[in-house]
Amino acid sequence: MTQKIAITNQKGGVGKTTTALCLAAALKIKGKKSLLVDLDSQGNASAAAGLIIENNAKTLKDMLTQQGGLEEYIVRTNFMDIIPSNNSLKDIEPHLHKQRGFNLLKNSLKAGVADYDFVFFDCPPSINVFTKNALVAADAIIIPVDAGFFSLLGLKQLLEEIDRIKKTFNPKLALQGVLACKFDRRTALSEQVFAILKQDFPDKLFNAVIRVNIDLVKAQIAQKNIFEYNSKSKGAEDFLSLAEEIING
Ligand SMILES: Nc1ncnc2c1ncn2[C@@H]1O[C@H](COP(=O)(O)OP(=O)(O)O)[C@@H](O)[C@H]1O
Ligand SMILES: [Mg+2]
Repeated sequence: MTQKIAITNQKGGVGKTTTALCLAAALKIKGKKSLLVDLDSQGNASAAAGLIIENNAKTLKDMLTQQGGLEEYIVRTNFMDIIPSNNSLKDIEPHLHKQRGFNLLKNSLKAGVADYDFVFFDCPPSINVFTKNALVAADAIIIPVDAGFFSLLGLKQLLEEIDRIKKTFNPKLALQGVLACKFDRRTALSEQVFAILKQDFPDKLFNAVIRVNIDLVKAQIAQKNIFEYNSKSKGAEDFLSLAEEIING
């Protein structure tokens, strides 16, 4: 069974894209095949994966508007397949919003994903029409949270939106887990935020914690996967732990 997982939090910079790329790669090392859908018009996941998207290339924008077969939009990389995005995704946002086009991603993925163990949706930093498409298409959600106060405030708003989508579109949508990202257990703030998360999500906080690790940043700048860049880094280690936790349920 293919598991479709939305990686979402409307706060920017918490580690969504890093989680999408590194988790899919860690799962590949564990023998699992993933498709990553880049739902952010900034195209960070596509760029960090080293993809160069030509002006006339087919991207997620075309997949959503043309509703053709999945295959023609897929770009293959060493660690995962990707449906890329670039700035042009923004062009269709007002139209989709007006049409309440929240089912488009789900429809596009109806056929052609059976080969994948996992499909990850890398969501943008807002609860916009693309995030809503991801929540409608997904089976489950991973919420990366960093050790900042505002990300905790935003969590409540996100959970309310998830509830709304569950009621209107996708009753089976489940919270797979909350992931502590960019944590430094030596600092009081990280410890405090971790304790709050544990209290609020006793069964849903992943045991795996993604520590602050500069190699994760450097790998993205070098457009390499963390496992190519430094397979012995803390980042690589933490994402392997997360992959194991997800595989073992
Ligand atoms: N565990 C980490 N340690 C250090 N830097 C990180 C870590 N995770 C992500 N980053 C960096 O933080 C920035 C934001 O991460 P990103 O995954 O792009 O967040 P989002 O997709 O939520 O906006 C990027 O520059 C990324 O390299
Ligand atoms: Mg991102």
